[in-house]
Amino acid sequence: MKRQNIQLDAQGRLRHFLSTEGLKRQMLVDILEMAQSFIAVGEQAVKKVPLLRGKTIVNLFFEPSTRTRTTFELAAKRLSADVLNMNISTSATSKGESLLDMLHNLEAMGCDMFVVRHAESGAAHFIARHVAPHISVINAGDGCHAHPTQAMLDMFTIRKHKGEFAPLCVAIVGDIMHSRVARSQIHALTTLGVSELRVVGPKTLIPPEVSKLGVHIFHDLRSGLRDADVVIMLRLQRERMHGAFIPSEEEYFRLFGLTAETLAHARRDAIVMHPGPINRGVEIASAVADGPNAVILDQVTNGIAVRMAVMAMVLGRQQGGEA
Ligand code: CP
Repeated sequence: MKRQNIQLDAQGRLRHFLSTEGLKRQMLVDILEMAQSFIAVGEQAVKKVPLLRGKTIVNLFFEPSTRTRTTFELAAKRLSADVLNMNISTSATSKGESLLDMLHNLEAMGCDMFVVRHAESGAAHFIARHVAPHISVINAGDGCHAHPTQAMLDMFTIRKHKGEFAPLCVAIVGDIMHSRVARSQIHALTTLGVSELRVVGPKTLIPPEVSKLGVHIFHDLRSGLRDADVVIMLRLQRERMHGAFIPSEEEYFRLFGLTAETLAHARRDAIVMHPGPINRGVEIASAVADGPNAVILDQVTNGIAVRMAVMAMVLGRQQGGEA
């Protein structure tokens, strides 16, 4: 018997959003379409719609975040939901309370959704398996595993600037090994059907099994960038590295840093993306990060509409269908 995807309810609608893996193309397109409809909300004088009025959303960030936490909060507020930002360091978990006991207490307060970032891969799935049936969980990044809303805001940005996915050559450059963003992007880009997907980086930072996901591996930056339409740069995720993966940051920048010279190997109209935080002079030169091809801050803006879409789909489902 085929196992039900934990992210979907019995009707095949999105209940949790934990990973881009295993979701059908139409589900990803629906998220992009709904996000498009929310872009206008961010451009209104009053940036609010009443869609999730009465719902309570809890941000549970066990790891630092700038973009994801704040854009989830803004997205929830623009949908008129109530938002709680849990300060984990001052919560009762520091007095020995278990994660599940904390969650059950939040459930008892009538919360509807947990947005979870955690250093452990699988944390969001674990929570989704243990919450009450009316609660939805959104994965805001778990270990090296997945960061699905980041991937979807990246898909939104690519579609906005490049149109159809089918003709595109996309190069993801950097620390693939430790990147939850790369994994979620790879699943989304293959489902959406780009013509060529490449990962580029040193042998120490690209797991060879990634080729099973349908990507081409390059260890030379200039070859990997050749004729690319989309260049996605990743930072070195030192907080998840156990050991020495590169000789030095200077050497890494010399071999894999995106500069005006290395970017010239991609198409002239290639867009340069980065999930942030960017490390200038390590994986990307300031001239490129601030240059005409960069859409890095547009990604951040789009993140609000995409997170609104995911929250509206997941919680709108409980209100009996379309959000
Ligand atoms: N892209 C991203 O996840 O950034 P933050 O760590 O600032 O949330």
